[in-house]
Amino acid sequence: MDTRPIGIFDSGLGGLTAVRALTAAAPWESFVYLGDTANAPYGDKTREEIRALSRRNIAFLRSRGVKALLAACNTSTANAMDQMLDENRDLPVLGVIEPAAEAAVSATEKGRIGLMATAATVASGAYERAVRRLLPDAAVTAVACPKLVPLVESGHTDADDPALRRAAEEYAAPLRQAGTDTVILGCTHYPIIRRAIRRAMGPDVTLIDSGAASVGALLKALEARDALGDTEKPGSRNFFCSAGRDRFIAGGSAFLGWDIASRTEQI
Ligand code: DGL
Repeated sequence: MDTRPIGIFDSGLGGLTAVRALTAAAPWESFVYLGDTANAPYGDKTREEIRALSRRNIAFLRSRGVKALLAACNTSTANAMDQMLDENRDLPVLGVIEPAAEAAVSATEKGRIGLMATAATVASGAYERAVRRLLPDAAVTAVACPKLVPLVESGHTDADDPALRRAAEEYAAPLRQAGTDTVILGCTHYPIIRRAIRRAMGPDVTLIDSGAASVGALLKALEARDALGDTEKPGSRNFFCSAGRDRFIAGGSAFLGWDIASRTEQI
């Protein structure tokens, strides 16, 4: 047993999609979550900037005594996974891309997989590589969706929001045209606007939540090391953001369905 917290980070609210999956699957696990809201969005930054920010986020989480690290950010996973693994060999370090690629390959019937992600994730080619390692003949259609993270971070999350509807339809169109039957929400912010994406993609496409997919892999890694928390007790939950505490609390509480105000600090 290991009751130390799990360290989770994202550029902002997006990684809370992994938090929601973690608290549902393993309410006994303690965690420390960092949303680097001062630097969001990551998706239009250079690889070097994303690597530097990822390193800094991990240093903060490590200073809180974590037992494992989850980069609940596709953009960081796509651009800095090698560095995160290299520099943290003493801890299990997980990203979101491999687990989401595995879930997509299991779900697809036609081998036509769509990817919605930030520009930096699409440019990295990391998803195509991960999917093709598992399913070499897969047809992957990747669409960069640069408007979505700013919309989520500024509170435009209602499926009827006109700006969100327009953006979702714009990005869904090439995926529908390509005949995809499975679409990876390759940015942890997107499950927050799942209803808008579902409406734009139609009812028959399987949507893969990359944050949720990673939680299963994380719990497996902890179990293999005999490092799960005390399953008899609820875990502690602490949130940090680097700017805009009130907005982070409002967005986070609405998404998680519980009030995170008393557990949230700005660093
Ligand atoms: N939620 C993140 C991701 O999964 C980052 C989005 C961003 O900051 O651009 O890619």
